[in-house]
Amino acid sequence: MVVGSVLVTGGTGYIGSFTALALLEADYKVVIVDNLYNSSPEVINRIELICGKKPEYIQCDVTDEKKLDAVFEKHPNIDSVIHFAALKAVGESGEIPLEYYRVNVYGTLCLLRSMQRHHVTNIVFSSSATVYGDATRFENMIPIPEECPLGPTNPYGNTKFGVETMITDHINAERANAKKAGKGGEEYNAALLRYFNPAGSHPSGVMGEDPQGVPYNLLPLLAQVAVGKREKLLVFGDDYNSKDGTAIRDYIHILDLARGHTVALTHLRAAHPGVRAWNLGTGKGSTVHDMIGAFSAAVGRQLPYEVVGRRAGDVLDLTANPTRANRELGWRAERTLEEACADLWRWTEGNPQGYRQEAPREFVEK
Ligand code: NAD
Ligand code: WQD
Repeated sequence: MVVGSVLVTGGTGYIGSFTALALLEADYKVVIVDNLYNSSPEVINRIELICGKKPEYIQCDVTDEKKLDAVFEKHPNIDSVIHFAALKAVGESGEIPLEYYRVNVYGTLCLLRSMQRHHVTNIVFSSSATVYGDATRFENMIPIPEECPLGPTNPYGNTKFGVETMITDHINAERANAKKAGKGGEEYNAALLRYFNPAGSHPSGVMGEDPQGVPYNLLPLLAQVAVGKREKLLVFGDDYNSKDGTAIRDYIHILDLARGHTVALTHLRAAHPGVRAWNLGTGKGSTVHDMIGAFSAAVGRQLPYEVVGRRAGDVLDLTANPTRANRELGWRAERTLEEACADLWRWTEGNPQGYRQEAPREFVEK
């Protein structure tokens, strides 16, 4: 039985592909649009390999409103969108901010207008913990609750903050307009999901993160050190006010993060909450040294590192307070950091070329 039809933008990317898998496993029908800027269509086969169902894939840029219109016309049963498609490199966003505003902000504008024309009323948006900026500037805001005042500190974060605001204004207006017309309006809903640091891969070893360029996140870089593509990890600063001097983040297993999307979507469609933000994190902070230790344990040997200066824009602590998602969505992260590291290592060892190679034989033969 199909419980609903969902459009997933950016659905061949890292978080989008795992969410598409979780949606299929929860009996949603899934249509993916992506322009393959940072992903490979091979992931569609891997999703089918794992769950026996295939999402429909349509190559489409989210700034192409005509094509989005055609997708909604082809699939009139779609009532919800999960919107991942975006550019996400913090450093790059400082170099080419207009491109970030074009894809992230204008792309979302195009999507919302097309959704409006086709009466698609629910949206789940990929926001980021980066919208909080440095929460240590306030007293008692670590772990960070959703009530923490927002204050992004880079252009990428500004686009996420801007899109949160645009979606909020739009959904509130749609509800008010429908009410004025005597039509209820509860069908207009938005989830603003603020992710902390996604980590890990599928336990099968056939799905994982496969960035097309040079990675900049800690775990993909550690994975490159482990396979010898990089000599050592550069630790960005050990003079922070933490137990070992390195910065603290909240690493959440990608399967828990993906499941957060299905529960948020199901909640929007059943409870009609209007616009609501939820943190998706574990509530547990880990330092860079904790991560080197955990991933070294998964690999079975100590990985080399060198402490260098702080990275510009980094903050001491981004740890989630995830109690709102737990209370309102019944969601909590269940998998451990050790599982995330073991799963990432299985994916890295089994797929040295990422999705540019066939799935590992032992899985295909199972
Ligand atoms: P990703 O790059 O793997 O996925 C993004 C996908 O969007 C890619 O498949 C890319 O090809 C696609 N895309 C980019 N521009 C597009 C366009 N104009 N039209 C259509 N498709 C386009 O990144 P991810 O890590 O899976 O991130 C997904 C979302 O989550 C993004 O919005 C990102 O900002 C957000 N997010 C990511 C993290 C993280 O650490 N990975 C943390 C918080 C929030
Ligand atoms: C984690 C920790 C680094 C690399 C970024 C975005 C955020 C979100 C997730 C999208 C930090 C340290 C890293 C290295 C290191 N993305 N580090 N050496 O910076 O927490 O968050 O990705 O929304 O918006 O800002 O993630 O993985 O880059 O870094 O010491 O080579 O590892 O300083 O403390 P970050 P990260």
